[in-house]
Amino acid sequence: MPIIAPSILAADFANLQADISMINESAADWIHVDVMDGVFVPNISFGMPVIKAMKKHAKKPLDVHLMIVEPERYLENFKEVGADILTVHLEASTHLHRTIQQIKALGMKAGVAINPHTSISLLKDIAADLDLVCLMSVNPGFGGQKFIENTYAKTSELAALLKATKSTAKIEIDGGVNQDNAAKLIAAGADVLVAGNFVFSATNPKEVMQKLKALA
Ligand code: DX5
Ligand code: ZN
Repeated sequence: MPIIAPSILAADFANLQADISMINESAADWIHVDVMDGVFVPNISFGMPVIKAMKKHAKKPLDVHLMIVEPERYLENFKEVGADILTVHLEASTHLHRTIQQIKALGMKAGVAINPHTSISLLKDIAADLDLVCLMSVNPGFGGQKFIENTYAKTSELAALLKATKSTAKIEIDGGVNQDNAAKLIAAGADVLVAGNFVFSATNPKEVMQKLKALA
């Protein structure tokens, strides 16, 4: 069964506690937390104080996706505010291997995210060190965008690379995930489905998550 990670970016920021309680009671496995700095991506979301406040109520692991430049400057801060899984972008990290080791040394699971145009082959020498690879299926920066179809092929290619490198990393798909592409993504090798708008714009978000969970 896939791991379901609703993206809090699509929640009601004026009432995060209500949406976190809803997630606590749902089939969701993780809470996906999108941090944007307005430099790596053309949008700013929220930072440490908001994550710290969310952590107080969350009963599920925080899957923190950093869309920021120089992520290595803030690893300890994200640990302190409650990140359980910390994902940095390959495109934003010059010394990726060191950054990954530091995330693990702090006691968090370590992930690498790649943009839609970034080749899977660039993960070859880091794959065995990772707990998670996040494939962006939209250009990062905004929720509610259209899923990029090339992601299916990338998912299969990544699954093959992880096998070849004996990596146990999970494959996470982030952006535009919905009922039309989820089953095909799981068939291609996806382990984790992030869903923002598909969950939070639904009349019954819990039912939507339950259906995604039951897909495979
Ligand atoms: C995009 C974020 C995603 C976003 C997904 O930059 O990384 O996690 O919240 O939202 P949807 O599911 O609406 O595309
Ligand atoms: Zn994300």
